[in-house]
Amino acid sequence: MDPLDTLGRPLHDLRISVTDRCNFRCVYCMPKEVFGKDFQFLPRAEILTFEEIERLVRIFVGLGVRKIRLTGGEPLVRRDLERLVEKLARLGDLDLTLTTNGSLLAQKAQALATAGLRRVTVSLDSLDDATFKSMNDVDFPVAKVLAGIEAAQAAGLAPIKINMVTKRGVNEASILPMARYFKGTGMTLRFIEFMDVGSTNGWRLDDVVPAREIVASIDRELPLEPVGPSYRGEVAARYRYKDGSGEIGVISSVTQPFCADCTRARLSADGSLYTCLFATEGLDLRTLVRSEASDAEIIERLAAAWRARTDRYSEVRSSETAGLRKIEMSFIGG
Ligand code: GTP
Ligand code: 5AD
Ligand code: SF4
Ligand code: SF4
Repeated sequence: MDPLDTLGRPLHDLRISVTDRCNFRCVYCMPKEVFGKDFQFLPRAEILTFEEIERLVRIFVGLGVRKIRLTGGEPLVRRDLERLVEKLARLGDLDLTLTTNGSLLAQKAQALATAGLRRVTVSLDSLDDATFKSMNDVDFPVAKVLAGIEAAQAAGLAPIKINMVTKRGVNEASILPMARYFKGTGMTLRFIEFMDVGSTNGWRLDDVVPAREIVASIDRELPLEPVGPSYRGEVAARYRYKDGSGEIGVISSVTQPFCADCTRARLSADGSLYTCLFATEGLDLRTLVRSEASDAEIIERLAAAWRARTDRYSEVRSSETAGLRKIEMSFIGG
């Protein structure tokens, strides 16, 4: 049995936010009214160094973690990220991956691959420039993200996944064009229901396009059939094209929660461990790492936090929980 196993939910998947900053201002994640030029991002001294992250990851790997995902904000805005990748790649046979908005991938893909990154997931919400720009809110064009995706492919950072957050009335019209575009490319497009992460994105249930509606609309034109999960605790439900030309995924955290199988923890850029995406409080590992604490002491604290975990936010979401002061997505990583 895994050293950490609560209610059959071992800790397998660690997501590490390496920065709380981003060069985009996606309307569903970092709305400009809140994340404007006066917004106070974390000061440098409060952000974990690469050496501190490396030590923690070594500990987590000893406790059974097999997948490490680097996130942000936007992870590629953290300077010299490939140095961290190089350190983490030496820690074992890990599924070492990264979620990015793709804007800096064209420059960075090769260095990341050389450093030992295995694959990437790229967020892209539309192929239509006007729609995409209205969502990233910094006038960033689609073509540059597509160039980043191409660079990732050329560097062998595969299999590549594409994440599209779907918001009612905003990018619904992009669902089919995106499906047509990525079908047959070997890349897996995943549709994510707009979630009430954080407390600044003005989330309303009416803005959510239910996953089953997305699947039905694609299936009408491009017939699909369900496939089982590729690993325990996979957040995306998978569907394959009946003509054998690939698959899509839907992440239905709102309409069909998957907390029972949740094997994920998140480390924020300032070193707090959150056992749920919707947490209001984390375990301060930075203070521990910067104290004289031994690995054994850190393990004890971590294990206690994980064992005490009862998280199942998406299953109990209600009008009350939706109003809690939760951690922002850009802070905790997706
Ligand atoms: P793969 O290993 O490629 O399957 O990655 P993944 O699906 O675990 O990772 P990814 O970062 O691409 O996750 C996609 C999105 O699903 C995230 O950005 C979140 O929006 C959502 N998501 C991931 N994990 C959770 C979770 O634990 N709870 C909830 N509610 N949503 C999650
Ligand atoms: N709801 C759903 N997904 C979100 N993401 C960011 N904010 C939200 C939200 N409110 C997605 C991004 C990216 C991943 C890290 O999380 O688009 O794909
Ligand atoms: Fe940046 Fe990603 Fe948030 Fe968009 S979703 S603002 S790209 S961190
Ligand atoms: Fe896991 Fe929390 Fe997401 Fe449920 S809501 S799947 S417990 S992170």
